[in-house]
Amino acid sequence: MTYAQSGASTSNGRRSRQRLRSWHGRRYAPRMRRVVQNLLDWAAHRRSPVDFFEKRYATTEDPWNLQTSSYELTKLQRTVQTVSRHRRGNRVLDVGCGEGVLTELLAKLGMSVVAVDLSETAVARARRRCAPYPQVILLTRDGSLLELPERFDLIVLSEILYYFDSPTRAQLSQRLIDLLVNGGHVVAVNPWPRSRRVERELSSHPDLFVVEENVHAEPGRPYAITTYRRAPRNGS
Ligand SMILES: C[S@@+](CC[C@H](N)C(=O)[O-])C[C@H]1O[C@@H](n2cnc3c(N)ncnc32)[C@H](O)[C@@H]1O
Repeated sequence: MTYAQSGASTSNGRRSRQRLRSWHGRRYAPRMRRVVQNLLDWAAHRRSPVDFFEKRYATTEDPWNLQTSSYELTKLQRTVQTVSRHRRGNRVLDVGCGEGVLTELLAKLGMSVVAVDLSETAVARARRRCAPYPQVILLTRDGSLLELPERFDLIVLSEILYYFDSPTRAQLSQRLIDLLVNGGHVVAVNPWPRSRRVERELSSHPDLFVVEENVHAEPGRPYAITTYRRAPRNGS
């Protein structure tokens, strides 16, 4: 082999390493960015949940792209289909309703909705969105400390449980079960397989059992929509 040939093969090697690195970069950079963003969000949320969400809503409308992302729109449609399948009555509680995108879809089904969120800004936007539906009540409340005078046929927990630690989820689960009629349902939407962990307090509660779990294997961002039923007390 001549020196010239050896140089060519070295630079070929460098080029293919660079190509490989950029292929890896293109493939993994979005995922890495998401991991880093999730860590930053986690730290900010830990400092003050109210400030964290207020800032998200103050700096942008539709911070989770619910109205523009086909991934999110499909997830919302599947959630509404699940609610329709398990609907036994009209009263639904939407915890962590954000700007009321799902709330409005539930109202369009003709359901009476009580929707709560920690962020005043989000609730104000949800009120505007749901103004045509007089059967919707929107409240700025901490979902983990909920006390409401009525009971519900169905409770939706869409993309919210992972914001709570395990003791708070246990407390929330008990409160929600107390707000649910016998035979009522909880529909939870969470990233898969994390859903199994963040729904442990629901799935292990003696008054609830899983009636349906649908895992949607969207590339890179799979999620589960799980339905629980409150077992009638005293077997009635
Ligand atoms: C990722 S968004 C999900 C919005 C909507 N449920 C959905 O499925 O797209 C989470 C929402 O939960 C709300 N949230 C977080 N912690 C809360 C709490 N402790 N009580 C009430 N709402 C809360 C946030 O303000 C935010 O609007």
